[in-house]
Amino acid sequence: MAPPLRVVPATPERLAPLASWFQTPEALAQWGGSGLRFPLDAEQIAAMLAETLTEPPLRLAFAGLLGEETAAHAQLVLDRADGVARLARFAIAPHYRGQGLARPFLSELFALLDEAGEFPRLELNVYTFNAPAIALYESLGFELEGVRRSSVKVGNARWDTAIYAIIREG
Ligand SMILES: CC(C)(COP(=O)(O)OP(=O)(O)OC[C@H]1O[C@@H](n2cnc3c(N)ncnc32)[C@H](O)[C@@H]1OP(=O)(O)O)[C@@H](O)C(=O)NCCC(=O)NCCS
Repeated sequence: MAPPLRVVPATPERLAPLASWFQTPEALAQWGGSGLRFPLDAEQIAAMLAETLTEPPLRLAFAGLLGEETAAHAQLVLDRADGVARLARFAIAPHYRGQGLARPFLSELFALLDEAGEFPRLELNVYTFNAPAIALYESLGFELEGVRRSSVKVGNARWDTAIYAIIREG
């Protein structure tokens, strides 16, 4: 079991290793959606981080560090007007998967979300074939709200997108 990750803001340097985490167009799209171009590169990482630099930020982006190594990444896209946050682009580095790092990393992110404002609705999109991610999200209390069938085109395949959410106020 690896020690818990240290959660810090994402920077271009901290996210540079992500390019090696996604070895095929499908793996990249599974993580980041069909809008990304394979392979992930510095230009696309900079574009992702641009929304973290607005005032106030439209997006929070984090790295989970083991020592100085980036072992996890996730983003929270913020709709402040409606109090909706969307978990996006979450991944554990391939060589650290299956070691129990995901749940504590996300718990810390959700605590940081509370510091950023009031977001009673926390949602995410996940492709319906992504069994490890779905098991994780359901174990955290996310509930399936529906499936956008055939909503994404990756190569010659079309993927179904499941919408999950937690309503965080009583
Ligand atoms: C989804 C992902 C983040 C899980 O990370 P991980 O380090 O393997 O997860 P952990 O070891 O911390 O396990 C946490 C939970 O995830 C689920 N899980 C992880 N691997 C699983 C697998 N192979 N099969 C089924 N469930 C799995 C389980 O619910 C597990 O809890 P448990 O061990 O108590 O059963 C990781 O597989 C990943 O980075 N995938 C590629 C990127 C991606 O698809 N991101 C999600 C985009 S929506």
